[in-house]
Amino acid sequence: MYYPEEIIEEVRRRNNIVDVVAGYVRLQKKGGSHWGLCPFHSERTPSFSVNGDKQIYHCFGCGAGGNVYTFLMNYENYSFPEAVRALAERAGVQLPEPEDAGQVRQRESRRARLLEINKEAAKFFYFQLRSPGGEIGYSYLKKRELTDETMRIFGLGYAVKNSSALIQYLRGKGFEDELLKEAGIASFSEKYGMTSLFWNRVMFPIQDSNNRVIGFGGRVMGEGEPKYLNSPETPVFDKRRNLYGLNYARRARSANMILCEGYMDVIAMHQAGFTQAVASLGTAFTPEQAALLGRYTDSVLLAYDSDGAGVKAALRAVGILREAGISGKVINMRPYKDPDEFMKSLGKEAFEERISQAENSFFFELQVLEGQFDMNDPEQKTKFHRELARKLCGFSEEMERENYIQAVAQKYGMGTGSLRKLVEKYAAQTGLAKPVERARTGVQKKKEPGARRAQGTLLTWISDEPGLYGKIKKYISAQDFTEEPYHTVAERMFRDLEEGHLDPGGIVGMFEDQEEQREAAAIFHTRLPRLESGQEKEKAFHDILMGVKKNSYEHHVARMGTDVNALNEAIQGRKALEELARTHISLD
Ligand code: CTP
Ligand code: MN
Repeated sequence: MYYPEEIIEEVRRRNNIVDVVAGYVRLQKKGGSHWGLCPFHSERTPSFSVNGDKQIYHCFGCGAGGNVYTFLMNYENYSFPEAVRALAERAGVQLPEPEDAGQVRQRESRRARLLEINKEAAKFFYFQLRSPGGEIGYSYLKKRELTDETMRIFGLGYAVKNSSALIQYLRGKGFEDELLKEAGIASFSEKYGMTSLFWNRVMFPIQDSNNRVIGFGGRVMGEGEPKYLNSPETPVFDKRRNLYGLNYARRARSANMILCEGYMDVIAMHQAGFTQAVASLGTAFTPEQAALLGRYTDSVLLAYDSDGAGVKAALRAVGILREAGISGKVINMRPYKDPDEFMKSLGKEAFEERISQAENSFFFELQVLEGQFDMNDPEQKTKFHRELARKLCGFSEEMERENYIQAVAQKYGMGTGSLRKLVEKYAAQTGLAKPVERARTGVQKKKEPGARRAQGTLLTWISDEPGLYGKIKKYISAQDFTEEPYHTVAERMFRDLEEGHLDPGGIVGMFEDQEEQREAAAIFHTRLPRLESGQEKEKAFHDILMGVKKNSYEHHVARMGTDVNALNEAIQGRKALEELARTHISLD
């Protein structure tokens, strides 16, 4: 039996933990907390504390801890639903009937109905494209050089001008208007009644990885706004967790996947034989999509648009892939805008060649940089070369730097000797980034016992002084917390802080496991060492921050194995670490 998440949260918020616990334990206010004798172990002096701001409790004696639900479950031996019911009653919150198996089934059958509607609508569009009324759509797709076979594989269709045709058709199939609206296919207005969302557009059905139609993209034929209209999110259409073309790409048996920006790109690629191509769904690439790709490959090639927006999106996607442990390389599509146009102009073999030339992100960055200079102008060219030298100073290890100097010199037609001199000159001026001890690739370094403690302490410190977050967020992210429950806590805590509030009780409530709840609650109750001078305090904080960052860097390097991109990825992590080492963070 389940209660909806929102209700559970509401009930928790409406029961002040101090009042609830006070019903069982004599509490006395001292400082920011209430103190009493711990009901979970026997003691004579109070070490049990309840914090009203944070809505959690913690015993410094036995380590018990949690939120208001945990308290009742432990004290009264309630199950979770029992605790929810007791507290709902206490606060006068009306609980909905808990969902039972029957209701779960009902919801599932509703999802099934929504999928049926999508399937029927896709059939309708498909049929229209191939009937006289759909001539205009068909010739548009032909003009874009799609074969009949390709149109069939992707189930392309056409939504006619008459915006009630689809409604009539689906009603005839027995679907209620309510369901049509929920499926994102139609909307209702007083003036026009039920109208279809899509009309006079070529239609791209979007399928999940099991070939079920979950939504649509519709393109205007020619100019017009919006160029693509997409189904809204529905119970069956989750844009963050699906990829266009994945239903075919997952069977491509290719060593890599190709990530594009648009539906037409995916289709053009498949038509040319690159059936490992996928695209996100009219929204930016997400970590969920990266995880999805991670099930099938550890190497993704990006075929994003060559314009400024495309390059930016590619740089972001490379970062998301890296976090998911996937190596990302960027395919250069220039002088063409996107894979679709490239394929039309230069064809399959030329693209094959571009794939083999795809660059790791260091070279991709250089290439982006190159675009900002006019190489025909000797002065500009010199400036570019200086920039290259400056970037090369980022490699602190001599052998690695030398390898890159040679590669860059060759690539940009410079003498190796003169580039090396230039690098040395800048290095002398600004100093090379200091080497950081590196874990040997492939060999999992023994976990530092301090790593866990540092992660917990850093979270404690931030929860104590939330203002610190703004100062350090440039250097640290949830990804740096390699241990549970700290990773999960960091994710939620940083998101909360971005939104300007912090809710320890809610954070503790995210964990089902009691042990994890206890550890999470401990974060908010641990006392930081009392340090005398501000300077001492800053040094301690800096050490902890460095400890967390260093562990994270080593953790990620060790997991990269023998991947060629590891080099560059490691460099990024090291840069952040080096920058942090040089940075003074004031605690005032
Ligand atoms: N997109 C969208 N809504 C828009 C424009 C674009 O959802 N108004 C999404 C679509 O998923 C589209 C992708 O962004 O496939 C890429 O957009 P764009 O580069 O503008 O289109 P192309 O893929 O080049 O499409 P076409 O070749 O048909 O012009
Ligand atoms: Mn295009």
